[in-house]
Amino acid sequence: MCGIVGYNGSSQAAPILLDGLEKLEYRGYDSSGLAVRSGSNDIEIVKAKGRLRILSEKTDEGRALSGTCGIGHTRWATHGEPSENNAHPHISDDRNVTGVHNGIIENYQELKEKLLRHDYKFYSDTDTEVAIKLIDYYMKKYHGGPVDSIARAMIRIRGSYALVVMFKDYPDEIYCARKDSPLIIGVKEGESFAASDVPAILKHTRRVYYIGNQQIAKLTKGEVKFFDLDREEVEIEPKEVTWDAEAAEKNGFEHFMIKEIHEQPKAARDTIGSIIHEGKISLQETGLTDDIIAGITQVIIVACGSAYHVGMAGQYIFEDLARIPVRVELASEFRYRNPLLNENDLVIVISQSGETADSLAALRLAKEKGIRTLGIINVVGSSIAREADHVFYTLAGPEIAVATTKAYSAQLIAVYALAIQFAHVRNTIEEERYSELIAEMETLPAKMERILEDKERIQWFAAKYSNAKDMFFIGRGIDYAISMEGSLKMKEISYVHSEAYAAGELKHGTISLVENGTLVVGVCTQNRLFEKTRSNMVEVKSRGAYLMGLTSYGNYSIEDTADFTVYIPKTDQNFATSLAIIPLQLLGYYLSVARGLNVDKPRNLAKSVTVE
Ligand code: F6R
Repeated sequence: MCGIVGYNGSSQAAPILLDGLEKLEYRGYDSSGLAVRSGSNDIEIVKAKGRLRILSEKTDEGRALSGTCGIGHTRWATHGEPSENNAHPHISDDRNVTGVHNGIIENYQELKEKLLRHDYKFYSDTDTEVAIKLIDYYMKKYHGGPVDSIARAMIRIRGSYALVVMFKDYPDEIYCARKDSPLIIGVKEGESFAASDVPAILKHTRRVYYIGNQQIAKLTKGEVKFFDLDREEVEIEPKEVTWDAEAAEKNGFEHFMIKEIHEQPKAARDTIGSIIHEGKISLQETGLTDDIIAGITQVIIVACGSAYHVGMAGQYIFEDLARIPVRVELASEFRYRNPLLNENDLVIVISQSGETADSLAALRLAKEKGIRTLGIINVVGSSIAREADHVFYTLAGPEIAVATTKAYSAQLIAVYALAIQFAHVRNTIEEERYSELIAEMETLPAKMERILEDKERIQWFAAKYSNAKDMFFIGRGIDYAISMEGSLKMKEISYVHSEAYAAGELKHGTISLVENGTLVVGVCTQNRLFEKTRSNMVEVKSRGAYLMGLTSYGNYSIEDTADFTVYIPKTDQNFATSLAIIPLQLLGYYLSVARGLNVDKPRNLAKSVTVE
């Protein structure tokens, strides 16, 4: 949420900042702003409400702002409506401190009252303005330098923040501070960068520093120094980003989402390749040894949104294969409900970004209680990856579209691998079944490719039903987990009201919503449950529903019931999610396109939910 970019070098800052912000627009896009300065000159600030394009036009693509040091921001509103006034950067009353912020300052009211008592004035409704003025207050009170004033403010602020700040009396320097919100620093000769995420600076440098929690960074031209809250300098080793800049470009696709849908076979193949060696699963990189696995008595999967849906599928698979109890919980609930955990439990936190505030809090809660934690994470160096005891990195590459697709698919692979390995270690499957499952998992990428070849049928169907108002996705077992993700895709990018129901539950109330023409998608990939779900489909059809069936090749009897059917290649039933989700992602995508919506940046949403 919210995108931050900072630049300090010898080129004109504004065009570089705008370019970086464009790469981060997926993080927030209701307003934006730039602050640029040259040497000891005053700081110039320009802001705009709406998309980044408006800021770009307002500044003549950055040419109207002169200076080689600056900061920029795209906002996803938390405190205060989207407006120019609330847009960042914010500045202190006498223009001493200027800054941008991502996160939420929980005690901002209390801090604001304190500052009001010291004659500070406020022009916006944001918590950010309070943070900036608090830094200014401490600078004036203690006459310390920027690091000292920021550290004092950090001690008083409760909440999460990535702050990037410039000071009037410290030209050619940018300061950053971070707690629980993402922020990286990039450096090359004569230039330094700060950003919320790697794509913003990748075209300039691959040398990246992951600033630690509750640390401060001082960026001069081509150099960075880090400090802790005691103002002591700390060493951080830079890391080399390995993925190429093209991965964060559209490469000829109309939207990031459709590009990322097509990248799923690769995401799955790369993730599989990282853990299968000579026909066996190796979790060595995660540090989960067979001994550790053998000692685990319960698995608790905690996540948000689509990652939670991966957990839902994971529960069925883990319990079926490894015969171990699995609980799946929404991170936002788990963190506040004093959950019962036992010392031999394993808490698995699934997160693409590794920065989701609720998931991070859930991880910390488990750690506080002394429970072993494993993160299934896509973004290297993210907070959850750094704090979890074990990390399973998914190799989906950078995911830019707000709606997740390829990271979700890579997370599924991670869950399969864990479930199979747990089953193997716990002797709940025979050696032969172990090898069979691994071999079948390796066929998934090619099967995904086959589904993608047939996308025009879905496109046609989506165009035909682009006016749909309500949709239901129904299924049993793993098909219910698939339905939940299919339904979320529909809601978030197509704005069609949709619900996922365990097919057997429909009769307990929801079926009263079905009327003539209601679109119902019946997911039937689980052979054992095929007839059961099909009879639920018949029930809704007899109440006027228009039915789309989703099943595996061979289950042709579904055509007796469904009005339109999509087939997926056969696979082990435990892996059906990986294949069945693709037509549903395509349905959400094409419906959104047919409705003329902004697929990659749906309203009110941001890619990485770093506030609770
Ligand atoms: C939906 C979507 C979200 C995320 C959720 C968790 O398409 O992308 O529901 O899955 O916000 O995000 P991460 O995985 O970054 O923790």
